[in-house]
Amino acid sequence: MRVWQISSFGIDSLEFAERPMPVPGPGEVLVAVRAVSLNFRDLMMVKGLYNPKMKLPRIPCSDGAGEVAAVGPGVTLWKPGDRVAGIFMQNWIDGPLTAARAKGALGGDIDGMLSEHVVLRELGLVAIPEYMSFQEAATLPCAAVTAWNALAAGEVKPGATVLIQGTGGVSMFALQFARLNGARVIGVSSSNEKLERAAALGLDAGLNYREHPDWEEWALEQTGGEGVDLVVEVGGSGTLPRSLKAIRYGGTVAQIGVLAGAAEPLAIPLILHKMARIHGIYVGSRRNFLEMNRAITLAQLRPIGEAFHWAQTREVLQKMEEGSHFGKLVLTIE
Ligand SMILES: NC(=O)c1ccc[n+]([C@@H]2O[C@H](COP(=O)([O-])OP(=O)(O)OC[C@H]3O[C@@H](n4cnc5c(N)ncnc54)[C@H](OP(=O)(O)O)[C@@H]3O)[C@@H](O)[C@H]2O)c1
Repeated sequence: MRVWQISSFGIDSLEFAERPMPVPGPGEVLVAVRAVSLNFRDLMMVKGLYNPKMKLPRIPCSDGAGEVAAVGPGVTLWKPGDRVAGIFMQNWIDGPLTAARAKGALGGDIDGMLSEHVVLRELGLVAIPEYMSFQEAATLPCAAVTAWNALAAGEVKPGATVLIQGTGGVSMFALQFARLNGARVIGVSSSNEKLERAAALGLDAGLNYREHPDWEEWALEQTGGEGVDLVVEVGGSGTLPRSLKAIRYGGTVAQIGVLAGAAEPLAIPLILHKMARIHGIYVGSRRNFLEMNRAITLAQLRPIGEAFHWAQTREVLQKMEEGSHFGKLVLTIE
């Protein structure tokens, strides 16, 4: 079978390789992968920025959807032909995250989904919504589950205000989920054109953060000086202090990303005076994925993104690096 693998770090070093077809053992499932979606993490993984000590070669990408091709002895959950997606952390099935459950992330700790076939344990899969294509379903395991849990962390109720940053994969799911919860959504982006596209998806107000770097002032104005209930924080360095200013007293920052950097000296008084909650999010469990799928099926939600043939993986990673995309970038395997 054909795979993309990281043999040495760098987008140009990503190589198309041939590997033996895996055989599912007891409790395992062979999946024919039809589509994979890219996350910013995959780009960092390929460049060696996520884990420079990662054992190579490694097949990248956490997110993929496909069809069950065969099952090993004792498998009861799946049969050939079932449409499935892998879960991000193969050991986080239910309950809170623990050190043991945090191990086994696809495309990092273990080989990922950018492969014609994968073998995963039966609980490492969920059924994908029937109405979704493989390309759509491949966007769900990381970005969507993360956005889902960010909204849960903010305990977002109808009438709340949620602020999103940028128009990437996590942020566009956060916009859709916040709207499902009846929240008002405001957002910042580097591009006026992207803000218009987000407005068509339900963004209530937008601001270009290149033209207006002090967007926290705007967020306060947008909420009559009170501050927003939740910031879905994907920037990290430089954006976290602004997010803390943008939230209301007792508001939540769901800390998800490090797009602008991973280190930040924090104004501690701001956290305590505001009784702010900074809630770290690390994707979510299989149960979170199942609950999210129930909600998105009920709403017939459609993920936002663009698909390419997987032969173009390197070019698509470059596109992600430039930040020219909107929503998810998807690779179709055929
Ligand atoms: N903790 C977790 O479990 C988890 C899960 C998923 C992702 N993440 C992290 O979350 C971040 C986003 O991931 P993603 O896959 O959604 O990325 P993505 O699709 O590549 O999104 C990137 C977009 O974010 C916006 N952006 C970049 N720098 C920004 C800044 N300084 N301020 C505001 N917006 C900025 C840009 O949108 P515009 O062009 O519109 O400005 C850019 O196109 C990454 O750091 C990723 O590693 C963490």
